[in-house]
Amino acid sequence: MSLKWISFLAVLGFALFLDCVLCYDRPPSRDLIWVPLSDDLDSSSPQQVHISLVGENNMRISWITEDATESKVEYGTSSGKYDLSATGSTNSYKYLMYKSGEIHDVVIGPLKAETVYYYRCGSNPVREFSFKTRPTQLPIKFAMAGDLGQTGWTDSTLKHIASSNYDVMLIPGDLSYADLYQPFWDSFGRLVEPLASTRPWMVTHGNHEVEKIPVVHSESFTAYNSRWHMPFEESGSNSNLYYSFEVPGVHVLMLGSYTDFSNGSPQYKWLEEDLAKVNRNKTPWVIALVHAPWYNTNSAHQGEGESVEMRKSMEGLLYRARVDIVFAGHVHAYERFTRVYDGKPDACGTVHITIGDGGNREGLASEYNDPKEEISIFREASFGHGQFEVVNGSHALWKWHRNDDDESVMADSVWLRNLADDPNCNKL
Ligand SMILES: *[C@@H]1O[C@H](CO)[C@@H](O)[C@H](O)[C@H]1NC(C)=O
Ligand SMILES: [Fe+2]
Repeated sequence: MSLKWISFLAVLGFALFLDCVLCYDRPPSRDLIWVPLSDDLDSSSPQQVHISLVGENNMRISWITEDATESKVEYGTSSGKYDLSATGSTNSYKYLMYKSGEIHDVVIGPLKAETVYYYRCGSNPVREFSFKTRPTQLPIKFAMAGDLGQTGWTDSTLKHIASSNYDVMLIPGDLSYADLYQPFWDSFGRLVEPLASTRPWMVTHGNHEVEKIPVVHSESFTAYNSRWHMPFEESGSNSNLYYSFEVPGVHVLMLGSYTDFSNGSPQYKWLEEDLAKVNRNKTPWVIALVHAPWYNTNSAHQGEGESVEMRKSMEGLLYRARVDIVFAGHVHAYERFTRVYDGKPDACGTVHITIGDGGNREGLASEYNDPKEEISIFREASFGHGQFEVVNGSHALWKWHRNDDDESVMADSVWLRNLADDPNCNKL
């Protein structure tokens, strides 16, 4: 073969390779899966165990038993030895014909940082769980995916997240997709337990958490608020639907798209006060999670009030506070924007990222507005998850991993500079 032919074939091969990277075949959605209670557990066994951060060094342990049992957690720093214990409270709820199990809620601590704790819960503690507490200083690593649901895609996304060695999981809303059928909340609790019992899972709500039915069930967020109690009290919020928390170096705002966000609303006032308390020397990074994206070039959910009106109401507050990044869900795809404020590129604006790609049964949102707006840097309708590693006070690495036919493939990554560290932006 002549050199000319070899180079022609090499170019052709490279073109085909590029083509197959660019025209990644979008997979179809998968059905809801039902996760049964495992055979070795019974009606008094703790199930659906998940943990969440409370204040600087406490952890909330949540679990459900079908029967009424004790709300007690025994814990310690070596396996099988539980020198410490704490008790908490129990609640349950009714939804149409459904009655939930006993939902237990126990806060343990104070805990030492960077330590593995072993724990067991309830009065029939057949299983031992363990978790690692967060680091004392940066770096810290978050994993992230919204609109999880419970399908085969969710399952493989969770496997990718499990192997990412993260410290804290962040979910920008739409958890179980139970969609009024309450047993699916229990199934979701069992699906996520292997991850959510070993690392704190911090969530905010989406539209699928509302579950209000006119006349028959007039209360909103009944299951969500009962099952996913977040540390709102500690952040001065009076609602589980919005709150903030801190880990070393990072202040995290968990905002609510489906509760009042208008100027002067309790959420707005809380946000204003919360931002005023942020100390950028202690937490150089400030990030926010919200369900309905404020910036979105996908055809799905264009122009919804929760996106448009909420952005108009709150964007100024976040901009003046130099919030670094807003992560959103809702649109079942991935999209990353440049720094923006009020629709335009702005060097001191917030980076917006949509990560609503966890894998729910509604499938992907694959239609986009064309031509692509200049502020949208990367967009792709695929399932996947994000990893956000805050390296130090000035640099953080964001990575998006596509769920590529059940393989985790890093498809987008970017280094982000902290806004409080930028001399052009930090003088407000
Ligand atoms: C922060 O991390 C970045 C990326 O690793 C590095 O280039 C930079 O020097 C670090 N800054 C400090 C103050 O350590
Ligand atoms: Fe949604």
